[in-house]
Amino acid sequence: MLGFAPLQGFLGLDMSLNASISIRGKIRDLQQGQVPIHEEGLEALVEEGLTRANLSFHLTLSETLLDAEFIFLCVPTPQSEDGRADLSYVLQAACNVASFMRGGETLVVKSTVPLGAARLIIEAINRPDVDYVSNPEFLREGTALWDFFNPERLVVGSSNSKAAEAVADLYGRVGVPTIVTSTSSAELIKYASNSFLALKLSFVNEMASICEEADADIRDVAKGMGLDSRIGDKFLRPGPGWGGSCFPKDTKALVAISESVGAPSLIVRAAIESNTLVFDRIVERFSSQLGGLTGKRIAVWGIAFKANTDDTRESPALAVVSRIISAGGTVYAYDPVAKVPSEYPEVFQTSTAYDAVVDADGLIVLTEWPEFHLLSAKDALPLMKARNVFDVRGILNATWETQSDLILVGR
Ligand code: UGA
Repeated sequence: MLGFAPLQGFLGLDMSLNASISIRGKIRDLQQGQVPIHEEGLEALVEEGLTRANLSFHLTLSETLLDAEFIFLCVPTPQSEDGRADLSYVLQAACNVASFMRGGETLVVKSTVPLGAARLIIEAINRPDVDYVSNPEFLREGTALWDFFNPERLVVGSSNSKAAEAVADLYGRVGVPTIVTSTSSAELIKYASNSFLALKLSFVNEMASICEEADADIRDVAKGMGLDSRIGDKFLRPGPGWGGSCFPKDTKALVAISESVGAPSLIVRAAIESNTLVFDRIVERFSSQLGGLTGKRIAVWGIAFKANTDDTRESPALAVVSRIISAGGTVYAYDPVAKVPSEYPEVFQTSTAYDAVVDADGLIVLTEWPEFHLLSAKDALPLMKARNVFDVRGILNATWETQSDLILVGR
């Protein structure tokens, strides 16, 4: 959907002259078409952009911004200690960029920035000759390219509607609903969307918990709910809690925003608390199936926060793993692409799913990798010391149910 052609970008990296060695390494890799993250189709797209010479990577802002009309800032806004979004990277990047602008450019902020950020950035750069547009992004890791090329909506916020329309036009937005609005509304649309999705998941995970006590099946309950078009069937899969680099920080930031404007969001706060309880509940249920976790050898399938990514930031799988370790279990983990982070030195990472289950007292499936569907109960179960399997994502096929003591979350 996006015409890449004359657009020059500034993507997510601190490109100051004192750029660190690791940034230099990353830029060199990108110049060779090597992408440092696992994202389906991205390497081919970068390769294509490099070959066609409509994508380039630079270490200096003077090169990056040469003749640029639109400058996209995509730097992170991590969570600060009090839960608010930390704007310092965005402000620093905006000021760096501003010092190289000729005038007449449009600065487009794609980073998830809190309410009022536009005013702060505009004040900080102090360039009345430059337009500012807030253009939040809604793509998901693992399906980022699909989401980018098939957006459900475009949001552009600015005090200059012409600048906002010009940014929307860059996407070749035929048939895509476009919301042209104020910067504050654009900023809030992003937080409201992520928080609403997180609370939908907290709700379904609470329903899963009720189903477990009530001899009901969350899969049927979710299906029955999802067929009501006012509810919809998406984001109704129960799991080990929600995580990743966005929902945890964005829900906390929305709580902070709501409090700062004197309209506290009790419901988003509750969704966050409910999510922490899911991690505890999963481990308690697994532990009771195994008769305690002390001294037990536990196989874990899935470390990434969701399938099709190598990202383990705020991964629910790791929240569960750390509780298993605290309860005295030893963890052997397998993930098709994600690496166990160095903060978990006690976790043994195996190179195949079957290696993880050798002599295991129990297996817990924490990430919904499609390849786990294909793993054979016949091959895996005989390797285990005991056939305790906890399928938190509901991904194993029916043969597991007949051949093991399988428990499914929400049933
Ligand atoms: C999320 C939003 O979905 C994107 O729209 C947004 O652009 C992005 O944050 C962002 O702010 O940058 P992402 O964090 O990549 O995307 O991942 P999601 O697919 O939303 O999943 C988040 C968590 O919810 C994962 O832990 C996932 O396993 C869990 N989840 C999702 C479920 O447990 N069940 C579901 O049915 C769906």
